[in-house]
Amino acid sequence: MQGAFDTTAMATETTLLNPRFYTTDFDEMDRVDVTPVRADWDALLAQMKSDPNKGHFKKNADWDTVDWKGMDPALRVEFIDFLVSSCTAEFSGCVLYKEMKRRGTNPDICELFSYMSRDEARHAGFINDALREAGVAVNLGFLTKAKKYTYFRPKFIYYATYLSEKIGYARYITIFRHLERHPEHRFHPIFKWFKEWCNDEFSHGEAFALLMRTDPKLTTSFANKLWIRFFLTAVYSTMWVRDHARVDFHHHLGVDIDWYDQEVYRITSEIARQVFPVELDIKHPRWLPGLRAMDAAMRDMDKAKKKGGLTGWLSHKTATARALLAFAGLYLIPVIKTTPPASVRMEPTY
Ligand SMILES: [Fe+2]
Ligand SMILES: [Fe+2]
Repeated sequence: MQGAFDTTAMATETTLLNPRFYTTDFDEMDRVDVTPVRADWDALLAQMKSDPNKGHFKKNADWDTVDWKGMDPALRVEFIDFLVSSCTAEFSGCVLYKEMKRRGTNPDICELFSYMSRDEARHAGFINDALREAGVAVNLGFLTKAKKYTYFRPKFIYYATYLSEKIGYARYITIFRHLERHPEHRFHPIFKWFKEWCNDEFSHGEAFALLMRTDPKLTTSFANKLWIRFFLTAVYSTMWVRDHARVDFHHHLGVDIDWYDQEVYRITSEIARQVFPVELDIKHPRWLPGLRAMDAAMRDMDKAKKKGGLTGWLSHKTATARALLAFAGLYLIPVIKTTPPASVRMEPTY
């Protein structure tokens, strides 16, 4: 199959929808003082230090043989795309966390980021093992050098990374629970690993929740509330568009994509009440139509780009304007205001 899928190129490409690599102001993050959340911090770090998933990311007897050659070709394309994009996202966390640990001098921060980079390296490596069996592993060393890095101020790293960790948890656990009920749809063994896996993501999210709690302004000032709303809208709508591009993959999983995405938003929003003061109204009558409009506009952008020429350029401009309008429409849906509880810590209970 090598050649048909240049997975390293797929992972390196920078598009609106592909997972990105991030860099930040590491010195500013190194100055974070965790004293205000010390008790919760120490408990969380002790749990991470004990490394409950140390032996988990290894293939064992549960890893059934995968018939890559006999797989429905349409499913194979989308499943490889899913694995590559998941591997890139996991590895993106690994690279960012490792860099923070390497540059930092603050023992609390360095310890946290060393555990988190350890976990993400395992996650990315495990997915890449699955890709290797198909003969299409991503060259992660190359990726570190070739991928473009996006700079985010530390507070944006908190919002974006907190959300992606909690969404990662919600996505993995929702697929895992669904396949528990419908094992006949489990077309690859990797899904059996998702339960313990998502607990790592849950803890990572907890760490960012605590980091945000060290500075109340991050979640209470007027401007920051608008930023949180922006990140929620951006992350949720991107997920919608990305998932709706994988029709065969979800069909084989026996998952209705609309249901799945709404379920992931619901779980993520419920968890995010621990720290975010606003929540998107995913039951609002304009929510689903807005997501569908954005998805349609982004598909048209893609088509126009492939077409090229003057007509392609023109249709690309119109489609971009439609996507922006749809995004603004989603952003302007009135949010639900919530009051984060005094104690921030939560356990994964889904
Ligand atoms: Fe991960
Ligand atoms: Fe994570």
